[in-house]
Amino acid sequence: MTRPAAGTPVSRVDGRLKVTGQATYAAEHDVPGVVHGVIVTSTVGRGRITAVDTRAALAQPGVLTAISHLNAPKLPYRPFHGIPDPARGERLRVFQDDRVRFFGQPVAVVVAETLEIAQHAASLVRVGYDGERPATDLDTPAGSPNQPENYQRGNVDQALPQAHTRLERTYRLNREHHNPMEPHATIARWDGDRLTLWDKTQIVLNTQADLAGVFGIPEQSVRVISPFVGGAFGSALRAWPHVTIAALAAREVRRPVKVVLTRKQLYTGTGHRPVTEYKLTLGADQGGRLTAAVHDIRAETSAYEDYREALTGLGQMLYATPHVRQTYRSIPLDINTPTYMRGPGSATAAFAIECAMDELAHDLGMDPIELRLRNEPDRDPGTGVPFSTRRLRECFRVGSRTVGWDERDRKPRSARDGNWLLGTGVAVATYHTQRAPAQALARLQADGTAIVQCATSDMGPGTYTSMTQVAADALGLPIAGVRFQLGDSTMPPAPPHGGSMTMASVGSAVQDTCDKLRRQAVRLAVEDSGSPLHGASADDVVVQNGRLHLRDDPGRGETYRQLLARTNRPHLEARGGYAPGDEVERFSTHAYGAVFAQVAVDERLGLVRIRRVLGVYDAGRIINPKLAESQAIGGMVGGIGMALLEHTVTDPRDGRIVNANLADYLVPVNADVPDVNAIYLGGDDRTADPIGVKGLGEVVIVGVAPAIANAVFHATGRRIRELPITAEALL
Ligand code: MOS
Repeated sequence: MTRPAAGTPVSRVDGRLKVTGQATYAAEHDVPGVVHGVIVTSTVGRGRITAVDTRAALAQPGVLTAISHLNAPKLPYRPFHGIPDPARGERLRVFQDDRVRFFGQPVAVVVAETLEIAQHAASLVRVGYDGERPATDLDTPAGSPNQPENYQRGNVDQALPQAHTRLERTYRLNREHHNPMEPHATIARWDGDRLTLWDKTQIVLNTQADLAGVFGIPEQSVRVISPFVGGAFGSALRAWPHVTIAALAAREVRRPVKVVLTRKQLYTGTGHRPVTEYKLTLGADQGGRLTAAVHDIRAETSAYEDYREALTGLGQMLYATPHVRQTYRSIPLDINTPTYMRGPGSATAAFAIECAMDELAHDLGMDPIELRLRNEPDRDPGTGVPFSTRRLRECFRVGSRTVGWDERDRKPRSARDGNWLLGTGVAVATYHTQRAPAQALARLQADGTAIVQCATSDMGPGTYTSMTQVAADALGLPIAGVRFQLGDSTMPPAPPHGGSMTMASVGSAVQDTCDKLRRQAVRLAVEDSGSPLHGASADDVVVQNGRLHLRDDPGRGETYRQLLARTNRPHLEARGGYAPGDEVERFSTHAYGAVFAQVAVDERLGLVRIRRVLGVYDAGRIINPKLAESQAIGGMVGGIGMALLEHTVTDPRDGRIVNANLADYLVPVNADVPDVNAIYLGGDDRTADPIGVKGLGEVVIVGVAPAIANAVFHATGRRIRELPITAEALL
């Protein structure tokens, strides 16, 4: 028996292309005749544009045009089905009016033969404003709050006063940006009324539908190509205004136009994790069992779109609590619309809930893990349905043993290493398993290798590789015999490459499609009188290493290649797919983790240093342990950034982001992450989806920040309820 490819630590099939610079990212496609667009952005945070003077820019040799709301054509901006839900507002319409809705909003674009000319000319554009002070803070909204989202079970008003212990705390997360290494970029080309976009995107079909809507053309007239994405973390889940700007400019100058956002422009051009204030009231009995919880959540959105994320789910399902009330208000501000950022909603909610649980444990004089185990539900407390799989107890057990949790003295400030106070904290991670319909195409070629296609993306988790593994197993081919292709809107449809749903959805579609193709080949062989397998039952034929043979008589068989050559076929092709059923209604399906953090805090300087982060995860079946570990390390590093470093600082006077660069916006570097490890329990959740995975891209960031905050408390006795935890807050 050859070993299945799935489950083995295969290196990235596209790794060589990436490290040798041959992987083509959005801005790197060689499109003949391309010219360059540079965006001019607003320098006020709210108001009207009173003048746009482009004369000096247009006078530069090599400048082709300068477009602003004064001369831009009116665009249809038809609604479309995509992300985010268009029912919740109007996407920003570029150059369609004189209003400034946030600092850094595109107000003009200059197009020139070279990037340098375009940059210089853009700097010569003079824009006049009638500016006002923008609303950039939750306490001073730009308009009336949006319709709140409410949830209720039981009766908290009755239960809370009767609780033995009560705790009321407010937690706050500041604005964060994704900061992928690859800047967002688009090359747009029109061929008649057909538009081709080479774009950085996590969902080619969304960009296709969005841009078709913007220009009022059929979706089939737009092709989006995006074979490589250099990190995104959610920032590329929608087509931001620069995509439209590239397409609009290309139409005006009748040349392909490339627009690459500068690092600074990424901070106002691509969304961010929203500022969230999470007020949590917990009631518990003497034994630490939760009786009631009130979650009062406020999070920012823009004044023109009601962006919301899944902030309430965690508080409904994590702990057995009979009485729960939740209110989530999105607060309109004069900012760019926030967006999904790794572990959206859950990472935020977990910070509040898991810090509060730590505080409650401390108040009750109880071990924080013991407190959580006492509140571990048998069924989903929100819906009452059984869990498909929930191995949180095991995550705690394995993690405790690995970090030596039981040797920890529960008292804060009880461990020291010279000037460093030492602390260990723990928190739960969870993320709901999402699946969505997906389709794939598989083609067995005359040389016996296969090509498999789906319009998904690979922003870095290793989708190329994991899909190759699934396809190889289903087809009975070695890894090298399969080429998986993605990132083109002409391929069979895929859901967003986000929300940790790609492996479950696309993986299941690839498996179905390749199973079909293999069965088709087997059928062809057993029905062909020239085949050594002629007359055999299809059920008795297996395929290994590209060779079809009888299970019980391996000598009798032939290769795919021989089969296709003899039957005179250039190729065999199959289409298949996956459509989720009602499993997630009948079962509560989530990935889980227990995250342990060990920190050292210099009490004289307030410096926090990570000594160790360990995540123990129940994420279902692991298709590629090597890539899963990379994913976890990336998620935990993101969590360290969230806990200690990342903070987009806005000047309230004009809405300017004052640290819109990687020198002032801090992200963890190697020295910040000495010992970061993940353990996957493995397993196989076939209730979740046909290939048994539960998704792991999001769960690995959830829980990291509260584990660190809890470790900081354990080290210092200081409870910091605002992220990031800074030296100033600790002094
Ligand atoms: Mo992730 S925020 O779903 O890209």
